Formats: sequence, structure tokens, C-alpha cells
Amino acid sequence: MDPPAGTGPGGDPLVWISGASSGIGRALVETLPFDGARLIDISRSGRGPGVEHLPADLADPAAWAAVEEHFLAVAGAFGGDRVVFVHNAGVIEPVGYAGEVDSDAYRRNILLNAAAPAALGHAFLRAVAPLDARADLVMLTSGAASSVYEGWTAYCAGKAAVDMWVRTAGAEQASRHGNCRVVAVAPGVVDTGMQRTVRERVDRRDFPRLDKFVDLHESGRLVDPADAARGIWSVLDRDVANGAVVDLREL
Ligand SMILES: NC(=O)c1ccc[n+]([C@@H]2O[C@H](COP(=O)([O-])OP(=O)(O)OC[C@H]3O[C@@H](n4cnc5c(N)ncnc54)[C@H](OP(=O)(O)O)[C@@H]3O)[C@@H](O)[C@H]2O)c1
Repeated sequence: MDPPAGTGPGGDPLVWISGASSGIGRALVETLPFDGARLIDISRSGRGPGVEHLPADLADPAAWAAVEEHFLAVAGAFGGDRVVFVHNAGVIEPVGYAGEVDSDAYRRNILLNAAAPAALGHAFLRAVAPLDARADLVMLTSGAASSVYEGWTAYCAGKAAVDMWVRTAGAEQASRHGNCRVVAVAPGVVDTGMQRTVRERVDRRDFPRLDKFVDLHESGRLVDPADAARGIWSVLDRDVANGAVVDLREL
């Protein structure tokens, strides 16, 4: 971790983004709406110059405890008034039917998409609770949380788990008059590596709705990652309830 944990100059905002190394996460870095923020990417490969990197394989439960320790150390030394965590890291693979796909990849999908959000969300709430600061926790969700996509069992179930965790944690924050607003944001169908994976590395037999995503790409209707990122940031300034699940296509 470089530089070491500490407070940003002058109490500037403290922002964590998981999965800031590519796609929507990278666009969130490029459209960050805060001046002077201390920005930390939690991912395996890292974002590069200008962004601190906490290396973590979030599909490995051992990493969750390390991230929690990091949250506690960095938040504990923070003297500013604004803290944000956008939990964006996610994976679509393996695409294919339950009972047919690779078991190790399937377990990793479940751990990253369904379990890590709850473990890391809990860790963030624990770290920011003692602060005299406004905190925002944003989780990336998807329309797949409530629609059946054959070939995406783990992904659909993972995003449904995100939605339910956010709804419940948001209600808890409201009941306790906590300092954190918890929301889930579905960004639409965004032109990232994840969509390339869906289009290019998937067989119709493993994913019968493939043509929908090929059509969206060929007709230029995929959302630009920068637009999705600006939409996600805009939710921080909107009057949405704690625990809300927001679809950018409906704003
Ligand atoms: N693209 C869409 O159409 C769409 C639609 C709805 C929701 N979403 C959601 O938006 C989020 C971002 O998706 P994206 O399209 O930007 O995907 P992406 O381009 O594939 O990027 C995924 C990011 O997650 C990180 N990641 C993946 N596995 C990880 C692991 N085991 N540990 C730590 N980080 C990991 C990757 O970083 P490293 O590889 O460096 O670890 C990368 O930065 C996901 O939660 C996705 O479900 C996307």
C-alpha cells in the first residue's frame, strides 16, 4: 500500500472504489466529483498513477478481513467530513448453466458477487460509524437481480443478494440514525470488458439471450462507461432513501 494510511490534506474526501482498474470502476476514477480526494482502488491489478492501490482478490474470503483492517486503519486516521465506498468489483464468468460450468469459477463468482458485498459493506459501516463524517456506501447492482437470464445463475443471485443487503442495511442505518447512506445502483448495459465477455466468449447454448446483447452493441445502444459513472456519482446528490435500489435508466 503506497502511500501509508493517513488523512488527506486538509481533511479532503476519502474515497474507495473496488474494481477501479477497468470498466465502470475506471470511469468512476476519471469522473470523480471531488477535488483533492484521497482515492484508493481495491482490485487485483490496480489503476495506475494517481490512485492508491490496495491489492486484493475479493473472491478470496481471506482478503475480506485484510480489507476490513485497512478500512479501520485508514478511517481511524481520517479527520475529514466525507467518506465514500463504491463497491463495484464484479464478475460475469462463468457463463453457462448451473450443473454444467466449471465449479471453481462458479464458486469464485458466488464469493465475489454475493458474499463479498455483505462482508465488505459490513466492514465499511463498522469503520465509518465512529466518524463525525457523512458516509456513502454505493453497491453496483443490475437488472439481473430481478430478471431471469439463463446462463447467469450465480450473477443473477449475486445481484439479488446485493439488493437485499442494501435494502436491509439501509433500513438499519435509518433506524439507528447512522451516518451512512447505503444505496444500490444499476447502471444499464455498459460498454465494458464484462459486456465483451458476454458477446464474444459465450455460446448461445450457454446463454440463450446472447442476441439481445449483440444487438445492443451493434446498434450503438450500450451506455458509455463515463456516462454510467457520472450517473452513479449523481446518486450521491439525489434525494433517495437509505436502502434504495436505483436504476439509472429510470432517473
Ligand atoms: N457492464 C455492464 O453492462 C453492467 C451492467 C450492470 C451491472 N454491472 C456491474 O458493474 C460492475 C463493474 O462492471 P464492469 O462492466 O465495469 O466490469 P469489468 O470491466 O469486467 O471490470 C470489473 C472490475 O472488477 C474487478 N474485479 C473482478 N474480479 C475481482 C476480484 N476477484 N477481486 C477484486 N476485484 C475484481 C476488476 O479488477 P481486477 O481484474 O484488477 O481485479 C475490474 O476492475 C460489476 O459489479 C457489474 O456486475 C455492469
